[in-house]
Amino acid sequence: MKYTASAPSNIAFIKYWGALDLERVVPHHPSISMTLEQCRSTTTVEFRPGDEGESVIELRSDDGVLSPAPPAFTTRISAHLERLRSAAGAEGSFRVATHNSFPAAAGIASSASGFAALTLSTAGALGLPLDADESSRWARRSGSGSATRSVLGGYVQWPAPDWTPELSLSGTGDDEASNRAVQLATAEHWPLANCIALVETGPKEVSSLQGHNLTTTSPHFRRRLELMAPRLERCRRAIEGRDLEALIEVVEEDAVDLHLIAMSSQPPIYYWQPGTLAVMARVRELRKQGLGAFFTMDAGANVHVLCPLDQGAKVSAELAEVPGVHSVIEDRVGDGPRSEAQHLF
Ligand code: DP6
Repeated sequence: MKYTASAPSNIAFIKYWGALDLERVVPHHPSISMTLEQCRSTTTVEFRPGDEGESVIELRSDDGVLSPAPPAFTTRISAHLERLRSAAGAEGSFRVATHNSFPAAAGIASSASGFAALTLSTAGALGLPLDADESSRWARRSGSGSATRSVLGGYVQWPAPDWTPELSLSGTGDDEASNRAVQLATAEHWPLANCIALVETGPKEVSSLQGHNLTTTSPHFRRRLELMAPRLERCRRAIEGRDLEALIEVVEEDAVDLHLIAMSSQPPIYYWQPGTLAVMARVRELRKQGLGAFFTMDAGANVHVLCPLDQGAKVSAELAEVPGVHSVIEDRVGDGPRSEAQHLF
């Protein structure tokens, strides 16, 4: 009745930004990401059958101290626990503890790794068998689109190729079948590094949720949607053919596009800091020097700099010297979630 799973964060190459239905997590179009390896959430869930008490949700610090999670954090977690409990047809309460391998304030998508790990550990504790498709569907129901992708390793697309927006909005059971993630390629297919240049360490001022809600107020959003089908195809082909030049072009294009939409939303959202632009400029210089580095930013100021794995150490060292960069996390493409033998309590 106690189960521990860890799941990694992921970095989107083609971003999920805006939704047709945020509550049911129906995006406008598919997104594509690379699953990370080091930046993980580890979660232990204990299910206490028949217990009518309140569920307990705790955070575990780096030195192993457990403390109650703040209410802002627990609401979505409790709702997800309830969803899975009722699917399993079980009565009882939970004890949950979670730990992130990366600093909580680093602005890395902790909800992607967090909800993927929570989904897998809760299903494990309930004895609810989930295959990869079901895991991603359940992760999505947490409300985090990016968590849908974090249950798979390597290069991932969500939703699956058989998905259409019409299908999802029809509200029939069919929408559920296709609204899942699929693996496009394994981690071994293309070993890439992701050096995360941290230019801000505080929590971001505007959440992804607020950003999703504002997308349609940008005059550029319609154009983004028009450009999306060929862009997705270019990204898929670049991954399939390990075409670095093509990947650089399409990933940077889509990253800037997200921020263009954010900055032209009403009210506008400015995620970038001076350090963000300094890193982007340095990446372009590194390319002139012959390195295969390229950038992308999620809904925050930090810059994910990708490159072939054997260039990761050099790129990290270069980024650490850029003014405004506090530190660099060196990560790489990884194989996805795993069950862990060591429990957090
Ligand atoms: C900019 O709705 O998955 O990272 O649950 O807050 O992580 P959180 O956000 P979610 O939106 C992710 C937005 C994004 C782009 C992406 O990961 O595709």
